[in-house]
Amino acid sequence: MKKGIVLSGSRPTGQLHLGNYFGALENWVRLQDEYECYFFIADWHALTTGYENTSDIKVNITEMVADFLAAGLDPAKCTIFLQSSIAEHAELHLLFSMMTPLSWLLRCPSYKDQLAQIKDRDIATYGFLGYPCLQAADILIYKAGFVPVGEDQLPHVEMTREIARRFNFLYGNVFPEPHPLLTHAKLLPGTDGRKMSKSYGNTIALAEKPEDIKKKISTMVTDPARIHKNDPGDPSVCSVYSYQNVFGGDDTDAVKDACINGSIGCVQCKRHLTEMVVKRMTPIYEKRQEIMSSPSIIREVVEDGNRRAATIAKNTLSEVKEAMKINWL
Ligand code: TRP
Ligand code: SF4
Repeated sequence: MKKGIVLSGSRPTGQLHLGNYFGALENWVRLQDEYECYFFIADWHALTTGYENTSDIKVNITEMVADFLAAGLDPAKCTIFLQSSIAEHAELHLLFSMMTPLSWLLRCPSYKDQLAQIKDRDIATYGFLGYPCLQAADILIYKAGFVPVGEDQLPHVEMTREIARRFNFLYGNVFPEPHPLLTHAKLLPGTDGRKMSKSYGNTIALAEKPEDIKKKISTMVTDPARIHKNDPGDPSVCSVYSYQNVFGGDDTDAVKDACINGSIGCVQCKRHLTEMVVKRMTPIYEKRQEIMSSPSIIREVVEDGNRRAATIAKNTLSEVKEAMKINWL
């Protein structure tokens, strides 16, 4: 017996990196054994902030499905689909837009923050304002009970609950109120010590060749106060040590001690880490290579997922129209 319905999505912004893997994907892979899971590529959401330049969206979708599969999402256990293939999301979004107060959208933190931050593009649009309303449609059309997300998405899940409540109040009980499943992201900084993000150019991708992983780790920032190899170090300020914590096993305390008492040099420490990272990531890398070399696999997975998703989405939408008494035919 499955414990409930889980749904999550990801905007197709390019190749996924170790931050995405340990922050979300690894958790999704675990969830597919316990829940009825829906994972999708939110390509319409990518348009909300990137409608002017759409040239990368298609390749990014392919790359992202390859990352999903390589990381261990299994189409026999979960449904992987493309948002824009299921037109019912758009129809439900339209209906929700009729009953969602403007004030809810205007006070959404992601709306306010991004409007202030993004200066190189114009995102003062109707579509961007409606971002959480579309996300609510994504979630509620599958009547998901659980939404695994990072902290930044909590306001969107909260608004989904409010929209569900408002719909149920106006038209009768159709939607459950979904709960966020907060992913306890393991802390993996970028190679420069800042948050791992494509815009900083400090990522290690799931698609990274083992020799490039090695190069990137060798350039990683360590404890800047350590000048000589035998200087005592402080692992708590070192990004290499954050990785050691995620990738290491029983040896982690020993590395910490050796750093503190100056008996291991950073070069040696990085070499040790590289071995563990490469060992852990190589099966994913190889699977990804194999998948990318046969695009028909990717297409079939998504087509099959789309079929399964569409069946549920159509059912919910008929229920919605019936509840709203707008099913004239
Ligand atoms: N907004 C999410 C993000 O940027 C992506 C997303 C779209 C999503 N629809 C969703 C996540 C529904 C969870 C559920 O990460
Ligand atoms: Fe970081 Fe290892 Fe160098 Fe210590 S020895 S500062 S943990 S790289």
